[in-house]
Amino acid sequence: MLIMVSKGGFRVKLFGGPAPILVHSKEFILAALLRRNIKFPYACQNGVCGTCKCQLVAGEVVLDSYSESALTAYEYEQGLILACRARVLSDVIIGKLELDSDSAHRAGD
Ligand code: FES
Repeated sequence: MLIMVSKGGFRVKLFGGPAPILVHSKEFILAALLRRNIKFPYACQNGVCGTCKCQLVAGEVVLDSYSESALTAYEYEQGLILACRARVLSDVIIGKLELDSDSAHRAGD
């Protein structure tokens, strides 16, 4: 169940990236980043592939349903999230993970 704490939105900052963007509380982080033409790795946009996996550096999010093959319970405990399934509950800072050259990168190709 998703608990809404704000009717507006929160700021999402990409660690080492451009200025924070406003993300509406019903919007997924990945969708907001892509809407603002901010490069971010993704593929399925449905919580299945794991390409958008990133580090939650600060703040709180809630994740909609996703495949455990995309994000394991251990990874979640380590602070990793899926940007395509994450909705913000506070201002958030996220960090991209280092990806190998075979990983999918659709944004900004
Ligand atoms: S883009 Fe595939 S899990 Fe997020």
